[in-house]
Amino acid sequence: MVEPRPITPGQFGFSSKHLWLTLGECCSFCYGVLLLGFIPIFVAWIYSEFLEYKKSASPSKVHSDNNLVELGNETVKEDDRAVLLEGGLAKSASAKFYTSSIKANLIRFLTLEDSFLLENRSTFRAMAEFGSILVYFYICDRTDLLAESTKKYNRDLFLFLYILLIIVSAMTSLKKHNDKSAFSGKSLLYLNRHQTEEWKGWMQVLFLMYHYFAATEIYNAIRVFIAAYVWMTGFGNFSYYYIRKDFSVARFAQMMWRLNFFVAFCCIVLNNNYMLYYICPMHTLFTLLVYGALGIFSKYNEIRSVMALKILSCVLLVIAVWEIPGIFYFLWSPLTFLLEYTDPAKPDLPLLHEWHFRSGLDRYIWIIGMIYAYFHPSRNLKRRRTIKTFIVAVSVFVGYLWYEYIYKLDKVTYNKFHPYTSWIPITVYICLRNFTQELRNFSLTLFAWLGKITLETYISQFHIWLRSDVPNGQPKWLLSFIPEYPMLNFMLTTAIYVLISLRLFELTNSLKSVFLPTRDNKQLLHNFLAGVAISVCLYSVSFILLQIPH
Ligand SMILES: *[C@@H]1O[C@H](CO)[C@@H](O)[C@H](O)[C@H]1NC(C)=O
Ligand SMILES: *[C@@H]1O[C@H](CO)[C@@H](O)[C@H](O)[C@H]1NC(C)=O
Repeated sequence: MVEPRPITPGQFGFSSKHLWLTLGECCSFCYGVLLLGFIPIFVAWIYSEFLEYKKSASPSKVHSDNNLVELGNETVKEDDRAVLLEGGLAKSASAKFYTSSIKANLIRFLTLEDSFLLENRSTFRAMAEFGSILVYFYICDRTDLLAESTKKYNRDLFLFLYILLIIVSAMTSLKKHNDKSAFSGKSLLYLNRHQTEEWKGWMQVLFLMYHYFAATEIYNAIRVFIAAYVWMTGFGNFSYYYIRKDFSVARFAQMMWRLNFFVAFCCIVLNNNYMLYYICPMHTLFTLLVYGALGIFSKYNEIRSVMALKILSCVLLVIAVWEIPGIFYFLWSPLTFLLEYTDPAKPDLPLLHEWHFRSGLDRYIWIIGMIYAYFHPSRNLKRRRTIKTFIVAVSVFVGYLWYEYIYKLDKVTYNKFHPYTSWIPITVYICLRNFTQELRNFSLTLFAWLGKITLETYISQFHIWLRSDVPNGQPKWLLSFIPEYPMLNFMLTTAIYVLISLRLFELTNSLKSVFLPTRDNKQLLHNFLAGVAISVCLYSVSFILLQIPH
């Protein structure tokens, strides 16, 4: 069991003798940063709510629509949350945010200027909520306030729960989609958006249950699911950049924000390495590679030979980096501070071992995703039933061979084959899912809904559903609210966990629209620099504060 940790640097083994601080050590200031950053925001939010309350309580302003218009703040009387969900409010807030300079805004914030607080109340609320969720993460994972229990696997129960979910989902959320846009020529997707999200969703549920119940017997299947996500990264991003040709800085920043905003805060607050959440660096890397592949000389993307050359260079790059011994470690060693990972249970492995292993498993599949997006068959096979039946028969047969000869291998041997064979089950699934028009039109929206929040459920599971106890620890335990009642506990923790994941998804998006302007690159740069400056300030102040007890 883990002792609750008071806020002292010594607890984290911080030693000022180290001249070069690794990322992990930087995080030992997290409490300082957390408190310095979080408390003012929280206070500002409460105060802004109070101002709001006072304003609406003052008789002259009640029931007067004119006054509301005068205030120019349509958010005043609304239920902010609902508006926030649509990002509309955040946009209106962001517009105001940018009218004055960052410095002026900061001063207005520090002096608790009423109008500033009122204007940005929803932003403060979002930040306060985000901060509170992180505090909840810390309490669940790192203190003894809540109990923990051990994982148990029972195949019967595992399948029962999963199939139950499928049945519920089929009975309540099976929807027919008629929207032509999802199929139209504009999008390259041969699996439409509903299908990819549903696909993500059902894989994610299995992936999470695999962690919760320690279902080690489906290890190989989980590897395929991760490969499928990476395939979708290659596929989706290729389609997007190929068609929209939007390589703007703003778009790029939004993408990075989406992938890394939440995980960055998790790392700081919980003192974890980025690599603990290996899905994030992996998708970031492959997204960057697709972006680079299409963005460099993007003028020539329409020319077939150029595209072939680009894809070929991607393959060569992967071969060079991952297949030639030594290159990987040489190339990545400058980024060790970012990508290192040491599992407390296996302290002897090289720092970059985890990164090598994880990124290596799916090194080719993003390219396969790009190739599928590019060579997407444009001719409609609707009437060619025989051809389709033939395709399906072949798929089933190939799938069977793959299952017999590859999937059934033991974990270590399987991992050796995985990078070269994971495209087989993925292709088979796509062919089968796409077999008939009916199959294409229907999707399970419950799974699609879960598919939208996969990143949040992935990160949150470590701390508020499972428990890792120590920095960088793998989540070996289960969070337990109701000891002795494992199923009730499962239900309760799952409900809270999914709800919080959903909120995190919404908060990430609404904060994104506040802080990342879509059109104004200069403003974007200013915000970025201001963010860096504020972080450095908070960091230095907390560094000094933490020195005092010594
Ligand atoms: C690119 O890939 C990332 C990582 O999977 C994903 O979050 C993002 O939505 C993708 N972008 C597009 C346009 O599909
Ligand atoms: C999926 O179905 C659509 C519509 O019939 C077709 O254009 C596409 O080629 C199919 N994709 C695959 C992989 O079978």
